[in-house]
Formats: sequence, structure tokens, C-alpha cells
Amino acid sequence: MLKVTLHKNGQIYQDEVQENANLVVRAGIRQFPYPNLSYRCGMGKCATCACKILDGADHLPAPNWKEKKQLGSRLDEGYRLVCQLWLTHDIELTQDVEPVHHADASA
Ligand code: FES
Repeated sequence: MLKVTLHKNGQIYQDEVQENANLVVRAGIRQFPYPNLSYRCGMGKCATCACKILDGADHLPAPNWKEKKQLGSRLDEGYRLVCQLWLTHDIELTQDVEPVHHADASA
């Protein structure tokens, strides 16, 4: 089992999940981190599921093309699309940040 720690709305939610779990798939069947994880498409197209990785980023695979397209320079700041990640190690992540799709409002 892996330990997942999600920061959301000033709260910290933690639970164990199976190896190769996908947090968006889990939320879709109402398992942790439901209902605290925001997501929409589940297919790497909307960036609603974007999270900043606080710990465990070293164990994640390299970003795929969908993450590169949706996140751009935010990849360098530690963001990932959680719907594109199948977890193999403990991870700590936060969604307590501006949604990625609002990032260019000040541009
Ligand atoms: S849920 Fe839409 S990109 Fe992850």
C-alpha cells in the first residue's frame, strides 16, 4: 500500500491506496481522495486535476504529452495532472493553488 496525502482547502487528507492506483479513477468510484480531489475529464484534457507535488515527485514517471500540453511551464514548478499518474510510491500533493486554467488571467 502507498500513503497519499492531499492538501485541499486548508485541510490535509491522508489514506492508503493500492499500488498503481490512479487518484482520479478512485475519486470517480467515490474512494479516497473523493470528494476532495477536483477533476473533470479524466483524460488529460482539462487540467482541473492539476496538483503541485510536495513530496514524492522523484518517483513519478516523466510527464506525458498531455501534461506538457496542459501544464507547460507549470511542470517546472512541480505541477502534474493527477489523472495521468498511476502511483507506485508514497506521494504528497496539494490542490490549494490557483487552478491551472486560470493561470493566464493576468497576462
Ligand atoms: S481531469 Fe482533466 S486533465 Fe485530469
